[in-house]
Amino acid sequence: MAQYINLHFIFFVFTFISIISVSSSSASSDDYQAYIVLMDKTMMPSPFSNHHNWYTSILSSLSEEVPSRHLYTYNHVMDGFSAVLTKSQLNQLAKMPAHLATFEDKLGKRHTTHTPKFLGLKKHVGLWPVSGFGEDMIVGILDTGVWPESESFHDRGMSEVPSRWRGTCETKNFCNKKLIGARSFSEGMKHLKEKINTTDDYDSPRDYEGHGTHTSSTAVGSRVQYADYFGYAKGTATGIAPKARLAMYKVLFLDNSYDAAASDTLAGMDQAIEDGVDLMSLSLGFIETPFFQNPIAIGAFAAMEKGIFVSCSAGNGGPHDYTLTNGAPWITTVGAGTIDRDFAAYVTPSDQTYGTLIGKSVFPENLLVERVPIYYGYGNKSKETCDDNSLDPKDVQGKYIFCDGMSVDELETSGAAGAIFTSDDSTNFLRPNEFNLPYVVLEPKVGDLLKEYIINTKNASISVKYGETLLGVKPAPQVAYFSSRGPDTRSPWILKPDLLAPGVDILAAWAPNRKSAPIGDDYLLSDYNLVSGTSMASPHVVGIATLLKSTHRDWSPAAIRSAMMTTADILDNNKSVIMDMTTAEQGTPLDYGAGHVNPNKAMDPGLVYDIQPQDYINYLCALNYTQNEIRIISKKSEINCENATLDLNYPSFILVLNNTNTTSNTFQRVLTNVGTSNSSYRVQVNTPPTGMNVTVKPELIFFEGKYSTAKFEMIVDVDISDAPPTYAGYFGNCGYLSWHEVNGTHVVRSPIVSAIASAKPP
Ligand SMILES: *[C@@H]1O[C@H](CO)[C@@H](O)[C@H](O)[C@H]1NC(C)=O
Ligand SMILES: *[C@@H]1O[C@H](CO)[C@@H](O)[C@H](O)[C@H]1NC(C)=O
Ligand SMILES: *[C@@H]1O[C@H](CO)[C@@H](O)[C@H](O)[C@H]1NC(C)=O
Ligand SMILES: *[C@@H]1O[C@H](CO)[C@@H](O)[C@H](O)[C@H]1NC(C)=O
Ligand SMILES: *[C@@H]1O[C@H](CO)[C@@H](O)[C@H](O)[C@H]1NC(C)=O
Ligand SMILES: *[C@@H]1O[C@H](CO)[C@@H](O)[C@H](O)[C@H]1NC(C)=O
Ligand SMILES: *[C@@H]1O[C@H](CO)[C@@H](O)[C@H](O)[C@H]1NC(C)=O
Ligand SMILES: *[C@@H]1O[C@H](CO)[C@@H](O)[C@H](O)[C@H]1NC(C)=O
Ligand SMILES: *[C@@H]1O[C@H](CO)[C@@H](O)[C@H](O)[C@H]1NC(C)=O
Ligand SMILES: *[C@@H]1O[C@H](CO)[C@@H](O)[C@H](O)[C@H]1NC(C)=O
Ligand SMILES: *[C@@H]1O[C@H](CO)[C@@H](O)[C@H](O)[C@H]1NC(C)=O
Repeated sequence: MAQYINLHFIFFVFTFISIISVSSSSASSDDYQAYIVLMDKTMMPSPFSNHHNWYTSILSSLSEEVPSRHLYTYNHVMDGFSAVLTKSQLNQLAKMPAHLATFEDKLGKRHTTHTPKFLGLKKHVGLWPVSGFGEDMIVGILDTGVWPESESFHDRGMSEVPSRWRGTCETKNFCNKKLIGARSFSEGMKHLKEKINTTDDYDSPRDYEGHGTHTSSTAVGSRVQYADYFGYAKGTATGIAPKARLAMYKVLFLDNSYDAAASDTLAGMDQAIEDGVDLMSLSLGFIETPFFQNPIAIGAFAAMEKGIFVSCSAGNGGPHDYTLTNGAPWITTVGAGTIDRDFAAYVTPSDQTYGTLIGKSVFPENLLVERVPIYYGYGNKSKETCDDNSLDPKDVQGKYIFCDGMSVDELETSGAAGAIFTSDDSTNFLRPNEFNLPYVVLEPKVGDLLKEYIINTKNASISVKYGETLLGVKPAPQVAYFSSRGPDTRSPWILKPDLLAPGVDILAAWAPNRKSAPIGDDYLLSDYNLVSGTSMASPHVVGIATLLKSTHRDWSPAAIRSAMMTTADILDNNKSVIMDMTTAEQGTPLDYGAGHVNPNKAMDPGLVYDIQPQDYINYLCALNYTQNEIRIISKKSEINCENATLDLNYPSFILVLNNTNTTSNTFQRVLTNVGTSNSSYRVQVNTPPTGMNVTVKPELIFFEGKYSTAKFEMIVDVDISDAPPTYAGYFGNCGYLSWHEVNGTHVVRSPIVSAIASAKPP
C-alpha cells in the first residue's frame, strides 16, 4: 500500500522522548516488576555501615515466593534503590517505617516516532565560537553510548586526565584522554524488555545507532578537518568545547525504539555525580509528571546542589503549546532552531528561456544529471499527482517525474530515475531514509514554471546539479517546527523553554556501522551525519556552559544559565524577531525562551540572576508539594516552607491567565554584579503589548564591585479584554525588561510573557 508522506528533507527527527508513567496503572503481568524505592536514611539501624548493605538486607528479609532482585543503589540522586519485587514483597516493604515512597519503573511509547515531521532547513548561525576553552571540564552525556573510534574523540594534544576524576570505562581499550569514562546502565531495561536487542544494539557503552556519538561530539568533539556528509556541509567539525573531556553514560537502549528506563536513568545520573562530572546533558525525556516522579528532575536537583550544570532537550513534540518536557526550574531546557546553512540543487529545463530553478536537496551524491526526460506525474485517482497506481512504468522508466504531491512507494516501484517535488512549505522536505531516488524539492511558484515547461514541451528534459551547500541563508535562526513549546504543564509559573540552540541539520560524528543514506539499492556508510532534533540543541548549550564554567569557575548553574539567557539573541540574521517556522510569523518566548544562545555575549553578561538550592525548595513549597514529595527531590529530611513562593529569582517572567482576562503580579528580583567594577544600570521596558503595563522600582540600581547585589520589584498588570485576538491565543505577546549599564555596554534582558493556562489540568 502506498503511503503518503509529507515532504521531509531532514534525515531523522530524533524523538528520544520516552514516556514513563510512574503512578501505577497495573497491567496483568505486573506481579513481579521493577520499582524505585525511596527510603528514610536517617532510620538506618546502627549495625549497618552503609545504606547499600541495609537495602540489600531489607530485600533479603522479604518473603520469597520469587527472590527479590536488587538493581541499583542510589547514592546521590536520592536515598533509595531499585529492585524487582512481587506485589506482596512491595507491600511488606511499604509497611516498614523507613519506607518513604515507591514508583513503578515503567516504559511507555515514544512521542512521535516515524511520524514524518516538518523540519526546517539548514542555516548556520554565523558566530559560533570555536575556542580552546573547556579544558579541565568534564561533561557527562546520558545517551545511546558512544563510538570511541570516531575521529571526533581523538586525544591528540590533550593533557593528562584531571586527577579528581573518579570514573572508569567498563570496556577495555575504549577510553583515552578525551573520552575518559564510559558506562552502561541496562538493568531496568533488561527487566522491562527481558533483554537488550543485541542484534541491533550493544549491551555495553558502545553506540550502535549514532545518536549518542552525535550529541557527544556536538558538545565536546575534538577538531576534525574535512568532515562532511557525502560532500555536503564540508568543513572542520568541532565540538563547542573541543578540549573538554567526555564521560558517556549509556541509558538509552533499543527495543522497538530507543527508550530509557527510569531506574537506569537515575543510575546513570547517580554515577555521573559520583564520578565528578562538571556538567551533564540529557537528550531524552520522560512525560511531564510532578517533579518528584520524574527521574531526570530528581537526578538534576542532586546535580544542581553539587554545582553541576544540567541541560536537557525540550522535546520534539511541537509546534503546539504545552508540549515541553524537562521543565523543572533547576534544569536548563533547550529548544531547537535552524541554522543559516542550506543545501541546494539546480534544475535547468532544456529550454533555456526558463533559466535555472533553485531547489533543495541533500541527496547524498555529488551528481550532475544531464538532459534527462521529465514526466508530469499527474494522477487520475485524486487531485494529488503521483498518487497510488497513477504511474505506468512504461511512461516513466528512466525518467524524472514531476509531482505536486507524492507517493513514495509508487515512485520507487515505477522505475523512475528521479523526482522533482513541490512543497507549499518550502521548509519541509523528504527524509531520504524513506525514499531512495535522487530528488529535488521546489517551492510551488518555482515548480509552476517547471510544470509550464513540461506541459508546453514535447519530450521535455532537464539537467540537475546536486551537492551545493549554501551559507548565510536568511532568515536564521527560526524556531524548528518540531521543537516543543512552553509553558510547562506542571509548572507554568516559570517560563520555559529557557533558550533556543541549533537543532536542525547538525553535522556531527555518527556510528559508522549504520546505514545513513540510501542510494539506489545501496546504503552508504558515513562517519558523520546530518541530524535534527532538540536532542542536537541541548549539547550545544552544554558545550557553551562548559566554556562559561571554565572561564568563571565560581558561577553556579543558575548563574551560567542566567548569563546565556540575558544575552541571548531575539533577532535573526535579517534583523527581525526570530520567526516560528510553523506559522512563518514572529515567534514568542514560549517558542524560543529568552532567545537564541550567543556564546560570546554570555561570557560577559554584566549581571546575573542567581538562585540557591533553598530557593527551588521555596518554589516546590508553593507548588503545594507535601513534605515527603519535596524530600524525594531534595533529599532533605527537614523541609522549611516558611518562604514558599512561586517567584523564583529567574531571568524571565511569565503571568498565567486562568479563565480570566486580567491578572497582576509583583515580581521581586535580586541581581548580582559579575563585572569587576562599580556600575549602575537603568531600567528600560521594551515593546510591552497592548494590555500589559509594567512598572519597575527602582529605575536605577547601583553595584559596588564584583558580587555586590541590588534588588528591584516589577509589577505587571495584564488585561486582554481589548487586546488583539492573537494576544488571547496560546502564544501571548511579550515585552522585555532590560537593564542598561550607564556609561557601559552591558544589557541584561529578560522576556515578560503572559500565557493562557492549559485547558488540561496540571
Ligand atoms: C532487534 O531489532 C530489530 C529491528 O528493530 C528486529 O528486526 C529484530 O527482530 C530484533 N531482534 C530481537 C532478537 O529482538
Ligand atoms: C487521466 O487523466 C488524464 C489527464 O487529466 C486524462 O487525459 C485521461 O483521460 C485520464 N484517464 C482516465 C482513464 O481517466
Ligand atoms: C520525441 O521523442 C520521440 C521518441 O523518442 C521521437 O520520435 C520524437 O521525434 C521526439 N520529438 C521531438 C519534438 O523531439
Ligand atoms: C528581511 O527583512 C526585510 C525587511 O524586513 C524583508 O522585506 C525581507 O523579506 C526579509 N528577508 C527574508 C529572507 O526573510
Ligand atoms: C496552593 O494552595 C493554596 C492554598 O490552597 C492555593 O491558594 C494556591 O493556588 C495553590 N498553589 C498552586 C500552585 O496550586
Ligand atoms: C525566609 O526568609 C527570611 C527573611 O529573608 C530569612 O531570614 C529566613 O532564613 C528564610 N527562611 C528560609 C528557610 O530560607
Ligand atoms: C486554573 O484554575 C483551575 C480551576 O480553578 C485549577 O484547577 C487549575 O489548577 C488552575 N491552573 C493554573 C495553571 O493555575
Ligand atoms: C566603588 O564605590 C564605592 C562606594 O561608592 C567607592 O568607595 C569606591 O571607591 C568605588 N570604587 C571604584 C573602583 O570606583
Ligand atoms: C495601563 O495603564 C493605562 C494608563 O494608566 C490604563 O488606562 C490601563 O487600564 C492599564 N492597563 C492595565 C492592564 O492595567
Ligand atoms: C474577556 O474579554 C472578552 C473580549 O472582551 C470577552 O468576550 C470575555 O467574556 C471576557 N472573559 C472573561 C472571563 O471576562
Ligand atoms: C556617566 O558619564 C558621565 C559623563 O562622563 C558622568 O557625568 C556620569 O556621572 C557617569 N555616570 C555614572 C553612573 O557613572
